[in-house]
Amino acid sequence: MTSLDFKVDEELCIGCAECVSDCPLLVLTMAGDQPRVAATRGQMCINCQHCLTVCPVGAISISGATPADCLELKDMFPEADKMEALIRGRRSIRRYRDENLDPALLRRLLELAWQAPTGMNARQVLFTVVDDKKVMGRLRTEVMERLAELVAAGRLPESHSESFSGFVKQWREKGVDIIFRGAPHLLITSAPWNCPCPEPDCLIALSYFELLAQSMGVGTVWDGMATRALNEFMPEFKEKLGIPTDHRFGYAMAFGKPAVKYYRTGPMRTAAINRVTL
Ligand SMILES: Cc1cc2nc3c(=O)[nH]c(=O)nc-3n(C[C@H](O)[C@H](O)[C@H](O)COP(=O)(O)O)c2cc1C
Repeated sequence: MTSLDFKVDEELCIGCAECVSDCPLLVLTMAGDQPRVAATRGQMCINCQHCLTVCPVGAISISGATPADCLELKDMFPEADKMEALIRGRRSIRRYRDENLDPALLRRLLELAWQAPTGMNARQVLFTVVDDKKVMGRLRTEVMERLAELVAAGRLPESHSESFSGFVKQWREKGVDIIFRGAPHLLITSAPWNCPCPEPDCLIALSYFELLAQSMGVGTVWDGMATRALNEFMPEFKEKLGIPTDHRFGYAMAFGKPAVKYYRTGPMRTAAINRVTL
């Protein structure tokens, strides 16, 4: 055992060195026919656990994680056709049922989306979630009221003044919520400014959340309006929402049970591809 708590079951290990070859930071080396932590490299480990997951015989444990904690992968990935249907068939949902998601389903979604990759395996993305439609209702009202104040005081940037004053008008006159699309829930990602890749980490986590959610019948919409409103126009809301002051606001995603169903994907569009021919 080392300070990394890197353990090899010597009975199981076949000395294939896959763990050594796959270690991104060259932390491992072979000592005879067994892997071990290379002298002076232990502190480089980013705890990605490639050594544990690449071992064909399940001989490796690291930092307290053992093969028994893992999901065996044989034949477990979805078929490409199903992935294609999900990617092509997901839609931005802008009509929601007025009901809360099952808390267990939401918890599962959040736990799974949090497995998304992060730069340097930092894993510092925070999920700030509005999981109760009553709380969402209060947030919606407060945001609309604050927006109305900002519009009235002429304090929105000129580039957005007209559109956001239109949203406030729609809300006041017709009860139409263009900011959150009437969703019962909201997810905001944030990460410390000083973690290696806060911006992509936050967006990747939401991308995973979106695809998982839609595969489970939960609708989502990337919420640029809410992001702008909360992050730029009324940053005081970050504290109200419990987002740490040293965090970069990532992005907001509204979600909930859809009140709309789509029967087909749109036609394929041709990807913009710039092929390098050096
Ligand atoms: C970064 C980003 C921000 C978005 N912001 C909003 C938004 O504020 N409100 C909204 O209704 N849709 C928003 N959308 C959804 C896009 O309008 C939508 O993805 C696009 O029209 C394609 O439709 P689809 O998602 O149904 O395929 C956003 C999408 C992205 C990727």
